[in-house]
Amino acid sequence: MKRIPEPFRIKMVEPIKMTTWDDRVEALNQAGLNPFLLRSDDVYIDLLTDSGTGAMSDNQWAGLMMGDESYAGSRNYYNLCAAVEHFFGYKLTVPAHQGRGAEQILFPALIERMQTVRGGKDPIFISNYHFDTTAGHIELNGGKAINVVDKHAFDTTTPYDWKGNFDLELLESTIAKYGAENICAIITTVTCNSSGGQPVSMANMRAAYEIASKNDIPVVIDSARYCENAYFIKQREAGYQNKSILEIIREMYQYGDMLTMSAKKDPLVNIGGLCCIRDHEELFQAVRIRCVPMEGFVTYGGMAGRDMEALARGLYEGADEDYLHYRISQVAYLGERLREGGVPIQYPTGGHAVFVDAAKVLPHIPAQEFPGQVLCNALYLEAGIRAVEIGSLLLGRDPETGEQKESELELMRLTIPRRVYTNDHMDYIADAIIALKQRAHALKGLTFDYEPPVLRHFTARFKSK
Ligand code: F0G
Repeated sequence: MKRIPEPFRIKMVEPIKMTTWDDRVEALNQAGLNPFLLRSDDVYIDLLTDSGTGAMSDNQWAGLMMGDESYAGSRNYYNLCAAVEHFFGYKLTVPAHQGRGAEQILFPALIERMQTVRGGKDPIFISNYHFDTTAGHIELNGGKAINVVDKHAFDTTTPYDWKGNFDLELLESTIAKYGAENICAIITTVTCNSSGGQPVSMANMRAAYEIASKNDIPVVIDSARYCENAYFIKQREAGYQNKSILEIIREMYQYGDMLTMSAKKDPLVNIGGLCCIRDHEELFQAVRIRCVPMEGFVTYGGMAGRDMEALARGLYEGADEDYLHYRISQVAYLGERLREGGVPIQYPTGGHAVFVDAAKVLPHIPAQEFPGQVLCNALYLEAGIRAVEIGSLLLGRDPETGEQKESELELMRLTIPRRVYTNDHMDYIADAIIALKQRAHALKGLTFDYEPPVLRHFTARFKSK
């Protein structure tokens, strides 16, 4: 596969250091066999997440110097609102410190509206797939989060262009089952992180919006990776080849009434988030009322003025087509190299990460012994690369029975930070995983040494079987 050269040159470097095998054994043992507990200094290539780990441009750094740190009415807030309106056509903007900050100020307001305006009782949210903090905020507020992703998502080997799509029939039957009055919102997550950074087609976004409108249910677009989704639409969906990324983004956001955004991904900043609403003043006021005590005053919402400026500029850079071409190709290149080396991955490769099918690499390790985590640990020892488990460990226990739930997929996510690692790094990663596959049969499962009661994957400690 062709390597697309980086559309930037490097002006500043950050040294990273390779460690020895013995160093890594010691570091991983100290971390309780949990890569989340490693010090980043002990990691050579960090693929834990693409969130907040991107490199800002010289233009964004220059923007930091233009920060207006006024408590109220900062000029950077107005620049940010103008960029939001330009791309999404939404008039009402509340900044937040990151994606989950936006979720915590919006979701309670949506639940309240469902109960007071629409006469419902039991709060339900339906999404193609809720990200874990998104589901977390719904549950913390007494709601239920239901995923209705297309079945193709769970078959990693058969290619399908839109593994992030809603299963539209399941969406309709779920609304009917719980009653439209109880559905607080439909959440369209673009791209669908949990199914492998897989895109949602424009046709599917449109159809989901039509179903929502027919039932008088608002649509929230969870917008962490909307530029990558727009690029996939341009590449794959008939009728969009000649449209600009800006035109595609604008159309996508017609199929939503509001958005929450972790700006730490596609908009290329290290911290920041947004909650934006098309034109619903009442809801906007409800969100602002919650913003003040939770995030900060309504024109900064947990961000410094300078960070809002970097974000306003990042919204433009993240939607640049040359950049997106390089970005998506770099991730796809890593995916192709792994496939050529016989490593099973979620295919086609997603936008922000390659998801290795750990259940297939380690068929001898059952879900309860966390094959994804076993593979992450082995990769760290092999090459100093830190990846992250997306599988049964992340999923957790059934809150009613206490039993370990079995995830549909056991994955190791190789999440690629934006504009940070070069194509040579991709080759290094591929070589390491292909070498690791040769000795995968000898790897052993894990059990808990310490299991925290909630969000256990962050702080758990393990023993080898
Ligand atoms: N929605 C999606 C789809 C996400 O992927 C994330 C974060 C969030 C919301 C929450 O945003 O972290 O800014 O509060 N995903 C990161 C990840 C953490 O590694 O996939 P946040």
